[in-house]
Amino acid sequence: MNILLTGGAGYIGSHTAVVLTQANHEVVLLDNFYNSHKRVLGQLQKILGKNLHCVDGDVRNTTLITKILQDCKIDAVIHFAGLKAVGESVQNPIEYYANNVQGAISLLEAMKFANVKTLLFSSSATVYGDPQYLPIDENHPTGPTNPYGKSKLHIEEMLKDLTNSDNEWKIACLRYFNPVGAHESGLIGENPAGIPNNLLPYIAQVAGGMRSDLAVFGDDYPTIDGTGIRDYIHVMDLAEGHVKALEFLEVNNGWHALNLGTGRGYSVFEVIEAFEKASARKVPYHVVSRRLGDVSECYATPQKAKVVMSWSATRSLHEMCLSAWDFQRLNSVAAP
Ligand code: NAD
Ligand code: UD1
Repeated sequence: MNILLTGGAGYIGSHTAVVLTQANHEVVLLDNFYNSHKRVLGQLQKILGKNLHCVDGDVRNTTLITKILQDCKIDAVIHFAGLKAVGESVQNPIEYYANNVQGAISLLEAMKFANVKTLLFSSSATVYGDPQYLPIDENHPTGPTNPYGKSKLHIEEMLKDLTNSDNEWKIACLRYFNPVGAHESGLIGENPAGIPNNLLPYIAQVAGGMRSDLAVFGDDYPTIDGTGIRDYIHVMDLAEGHVKALEFLEVNNGWHALNLGTGRGYSVFEVIEAFEKASARKVPYHVVSRRLGDVSECYATPQKAKVVMSWSATRSLHEMCLSAWDFQRLNSVAAP
């Protein structure tokens, strides 16, 4: 298949580009490099032994997207492009709706015009809001608590309306839990600009000596050791989930929501311990008060993905930490 990856130079997009190319698909990347670097393209070349076609542009440019869809004879689109920082979305909600929601509308208009009706959308476990029961299945009520999460849910709802209006559309909303880790080469991985918001990249930078210690956001949650529990999933497992989801859509029309997680939660202290073991480095930490908006526990049941598209995550927390550490070692630059 010819597949367009919007946001394809980003963290999850670049790993998915590797897996799709190795599965003999032709990928075209579209990215405005707002949150990624052009050097990723060189790294992808090293991994794959060939240059990927990449267009430097904005998903909100409907004319450009239409042209790519037509010129490259695109069969399916994976829509990764978007802004993803929760705190920033609370500060700048309109920027988040403008990029995420407007970006999706622009893409859908182009797809409709070019008659490309197969789409995977990068959604998030954040659409569920505060868990009402665990593990979270796809029927769990939605109720995001921040503009980022709301933008994802708005897009999911638009996509549902679209499939209701025209049954030729094939759309899967992939609700990612906590993607971490890197490609085994250490050439691509998660490389956040500035101070990392998320746990794994922060720990990696502490282990790498770029930051002095980790602030653990609360040790008074009702969990095994008092720290928050999350469903961390190896980014390569996640990338493989996209290949499976495309195969699923080949024979299934309509709108589908699918959790992509492991079904297993780990606490912050467990992740620190695993990272210390994988890196053979100490990760100094101190406990501070809870981060506003954090929940105690969040983990998926990935059962639906297993049943409908024969996909399960296979990589362990140790492998997640090892690969994140390799990427950190090979790519560390001075902390800003
Ligand atoms: P990322 O920031 O690394 O990648 C997103 C890419 O999209 C970046 O390369 C960025 O430059 C590009 N982009 C942003 N706006 C664009 C625009 N208007 N036009 C063209 N390109 C644009 O993020 P990621 O971690 O790879 O996430 C990919 C998707 O998955 C996002 O939609 C994100 O919301 C979603 N998601 C991520 C996580 C996570 O923890 N990483 C969890 C759940 C969902
Ligand atoms: C965050 C986002 C969520 C997004 C997810 C994607 C927030 C509030 N939520 O969720 O919308 O879908 O990333 O991966 O930003 N922690 C620390 N110290 C740190 C960083 C994190 O103790 O410096 C703890 C957190 O309290 C949490 C766990 O580590 O218990 C994981 O945090 P994080 O990586 O930010 O992910 P989420 O909170 O699940």
